[in-house]
Amino acid sequence: MRMILVGPPGAGKGTQAARLVERLHITHISSGDMLRAAVKEGTAMGQAADGYMKAGQLVPDDVVIGMILERIAKPDCANGFMLDGFPRTIPQAEALDAALAKAGVTLDRVLMIEVPDALLVERGVGRRNDPETGKIYHLKFDPPPAEVVPRLVHRKDDTEEAITKRLTYYHEWTAPILPLYQAKGILRTVDGVGTPDEVTARVTAALAQ
Ligand code: AP5
Repeated sequence: MRMILVGPPGAGKGTQAARLVERLHITHISSGDMLRAAVKEGTAMGQAADGYMKAGQLVPDDVVIGMILERIAKPDCANGFMLDGFPRTIPQAEALDAALAKAGVTLDRVLMIEVPDALLVERGVGRRNDPETGKIYHLKFDPPPAEVVPRLVHRKDDTEEAITKRLTYYHEWTAPILPLYQAKGILRTVDGVGTPDEVTARVTAALAQ
């Protein structure tokens, strides 16, 4: 299965991806995680991306496209992959299409997790990430156990101001890619409001359609 998870910031893409990839035996590729790792390592790409990310802006297409196309060409993607956070613009979607066509493979599904903007700021501001296990918590909706709290990280772009900007970018630049996948008949939309378990059940049903 080759698929894309798409949705506004805080919709639950990372939360659902962690549950799905184990079951589907495919590789999870999060463009945001890859960029944050590059920033942490201080690579040239990380230095180029850092300012954009902190401000909640999109990192330029040429940086992200090269990073993802290189990643999906690796052997662990031969059985399939789940792209999370890419593509986010029409040029990114077109570059992915061209690369897959060249490799002689096709996308099976694009899964859109839909959540109203009004709920997303609270989801982002309350998010905490565990750098050791990669687990995503929420102070209110999925509280972390006391013993992991001291090591949890609050992302720099999880402020109300940055989330609001990320939402604007989502509507302006990312939502327009959806009709491309609708036209191919591979887009499925699920309601992302409810408990993570409820959303997982909807996602599973949508992937089976
Ligand atoms: P990225 O890391 O991709 O962030 P995002 O798309 O904004 O998505 P998030 O990670 O914020 O949210 P999510 O949907 O994964 O939600 P989560 O599961 O964590 O990108 C960050 C930045 O990198 C971008 O702004 C940009 O600068 C750059 N970038 C990345 N890709 C790029 C690209 N392709 N092009 C250009 N720039 C790029 O859940 C959120 C919270 O809600 C958690 O606390 C979770 O516990 C909680 N939660 C989850 N599900 C539920 C539920 N059902 N009910 C209640 N709470 C829930």
